[in-house]
Amino acid sequence: MERVGILVVSYGARAAAMVDAFKRSLEYEVELYIADRQRNPFNVERAAEHVVIPDLDVEKILRFAERHRDRIDFGIVGPEKPIINGIRDLLEGRLKIPVICPTKRYALEGSKVAQRRLFQEVIPEVNPRFKVFDRAEYKSDEALRRDLEAWLDELENRVAVKPDAPAAGKGVGVWGDHFTTREGILKHFYANLKYGPVIVEEKLEGEESSFQALCDGRRLVPLPETRDYKRAFEDDRGPNTGGMGSYKDVDDILPYMTPEDWEEERRLVERLFRHLRGEGRNPELLGIPFYVAFIHTAEGPKILENNSRPGDPEIINILPLLRDDFVDICYWMLEGNLTRVEVEHKASVVIYKVPPNYGGFEKVYPERVRRGEVGGPIDLSEAYRLRERYGDRMRIYPASMELRDSEVYALRSRAVCVVGIGDSIEEARRISLEGVKAIRGGALWHRGDIASREHIERSIRHMEELRGHR
Ligand code: GLY
Repeated sequence: MERVGILVVSYGARAAAMVDAFKRSLEYEVELYIADRQRNPFNVERAAEHVVIPDLDVEKILRFAERHRDRIDFGIVGPEKPIINGIRDLLEGRLKIPVICPTKRYALEGSKVAQRRLFQEVIPEVNPRFKVFDRAEYKSDEALRRDLEAWLDELENRVAVKPDAPAAGKGVGVWGDHFTTREGILKHFYANLKYGPVIVEEKLEGEESSFQALCDGRRLVPLPETRDYKRAFEDDRGPNTGGMGSYKDVDDILPYMTPEDWEEERRLVERLFRHLRGEGRNPELLGIPFYVAFIHTAEGPKILENNSRPGDPEIINILPLLRDDFVDICYWMLEGNLTRVEVEHKASVVIYKVPPNYGGFEKVYPERVRRGEVGGPIDLSEAYRLRERYGDRMRIYPASMELRDSEVYALRSRAVCVVGIGDSIEEARRISLEGVKAIRGGALWHRGDIASREHIERSIRHMEELRGHR
């Protein structure tokens, strides 16, 4: 077997899913060098060398890579922060390690304002109406306030408020969800304006989906569509989170999408890609430069935002289903030979368990938190027994979870996810939920309605209503 040394820059279960995909290689003897936010138990067990870099500082990652330079053939990066901070530019420039992620220049999520302007230039027909409010561009607070109020009048308060700087979806406020009065909008707006420019855009009515495509700099290869659950609580209530879970259907599209929606999404992202790529190949665009949040409206798909990295949890729906060897896929991207990626025709459901502080849960359900054993070790043994029974149909990926001596503890973010895989969404969900319920300790909680029949049917009905009004 050919040996391959891979540097993985890790944050969360997304990286554990990558590690798992690499370790399943049948053709390569994979040696992993993992730079992690904490001692993720899954990664520690599978790494040739594992280092903890809590802030994922790019210079520290570089020093780790330098120590193992002779053993590393290429790198891959999951989280956005090091991508935005130019990890690829550094590793390639100083150590000549090829890295799968976009260069700093193409880390489109570094600025939501620049992104909206790019969409306006290239695909204006799917860009919501927006205005950017930047304190530096106004003579006085009053002048900004006047413009803002006029814009809110024009949009009749039905707006989404988005800070320019990335906040993993958490700085975003939406009319009807996060505020229902003009005062509420202003409060959210000014809380964000302290940190930089803020976009105020029209709120779109529809159902969301996540588009991801692998890229070798020459071509885009779209992956099946997934649905993320951003809000903390059931029935899509509570604050935005990084994503409480997600699902993928058996084929490429989601139950509430049409084949035309899917075709349109691919056309739109391809236009964006060609605009950025220019002629021929632009190897600065490697990995997943386009993870696009679309919203399906009465007029078809519109674009909410783009991230230049894999989605978490969305990529976790896909990685366990790759038919091609993930190491080969990485080499195809690096060499500019990516023509196709085979994904099994299976449904998958990812459900996260999260700690009591996450999503403001402890404020809403203080008595449930008091009853739990907050902060104690997490017992994964029963879930791992189930995993043995289900084989490839269940995966358990620790995320914000730390190995201390021989026990694991949840930290402050999404702790661990279980992936269920089946011939239908229902079957995949049942497996995922069984795994989730078998994880004990730490007062961890989860959303019980991820991929539920009721939730999916609501999305289908919503789209039927919207399309009926077309
Ligand atoms: N699922 C949301 C994100 O990856 O940003």
